[in-house]
Amino acid sequence: MAFHELVISAVQQEGVDAKALVFDVPQELAQKFAFVPGQYLTLRGDIGGEDIRRSYSIASAPDGALCVGVRQVEEGVFSTYAQGLKAGDRVQVMEPEGRFMLADQKDVVLIAAGSGVTPMVSIAATALARGATVTMVYGNRDFAHVMFRSELEALKDVYMGRFTLIHVLSREEQDVPLLNGRITGDKIAQMAKAGAIDLDAADGVFLCGPGEMISEVSETLATLGVAAGDIHSERFTPDGEAAKVRSKAAQVAAQNGVEVEVILDGTKKRFMVEDGDENVVAAAARQGLELPYSCKGGMCCTCRCQVTEGTAEMATNYSLEPWELEAGFTLACQTRPTSEKLVLDFDAA
Ligand code: FES
Repeated sequence: MAFHELVISAVQQEGVDAKALVFDVPQELAQKFAFVPGQYLTLRGDIGGEDIRRSYSIASAPDGALCVGVRQVEEGVFSTYAQGLKAGDRVQVMEPEGRFMLADQKDVVLIAAGSGVTPMVSIAATALARGATVTMVYGNRDFAHVMFRSELEALKDVYMGRFTLIHVLSREEQDVPLLNGRITGDKIAQMAKAGAIDLDAADGVFLCGPGEMISEVSETLATLGVAAGDIHSERFTPDGEAAKVRSKAAQVAAQNGVEVEVILDGTKKRFMVEDGDENVVAAAARQGLELPYSCKGGMCCTCRCQVTEGTAEMATNYSLEPWELEAGFTLACQTRPTSEKLVLDFDAA
């Protein structure tokens, strides 16, 4: 996936601590930036001499102006940089990616927390436009932190009767007790019981937000009878500290140095993994080779590749499907070799 330089055409304030960046896509790049609702863009900036990348979901419908939402994260290098961007600035943007996508679902339930609403705006607008019924449960601290409020209100106006928006607030009291606090599995179960969300009628439930919320709500949805294939999720943060775990086998392999060969865009390149805690992406970067990556947290799949020789382990995986693991696919940003040689094919489909 290539980066392209896009010009920001507008910057909009979204709640008290987030911005929407709208990009101008020239005609010659329109095809490359075509996307499916739910997908994201990776933005890249040279910040303090470092190449920093972050993924942000697309908030617009495919027929609208390309737009992402960026919430200011405490000590977040890129999100702080992004808050200072203005119309006319140029940004390196990777072509849309991601598997969190609206397919041909008819009626959907969307559950989002914080900036996790960003892809949901795109999904809701698209699903409603084709006649679906959409229920969105959206968690925030208070109304001041709600992102894309005017877009959501506009959808309510246009699709009255088919779009239900339920705000759940953790630090602003609402009249209905069920709508106060964080979004939890228990809260979703209570909403289903009260008839506020109809999980039986929905043929897709989409979740986006912090890893803990997604894990908990997914478990509840399963106990409520929602089929695993109907639950779609996108994490903004990984769960806990799993990414730091490293097995004995990987430590032993790294002691002697592991030769890694990668096949990328039809060419072969080699480098060594020598450090006990290094993943493949980090080891390649240290030796001047840039492999595809974005989140570096096992969530986005940008670094997906296939092990064609040797063995490896992943510290964590939030995006590869069981069939991909079976077929030997791995996430390079989480991969540590457990054999003396490792061959990774980034061109494998
Ligand atoms: S860079 Fe996102 S999963 Fe590896």
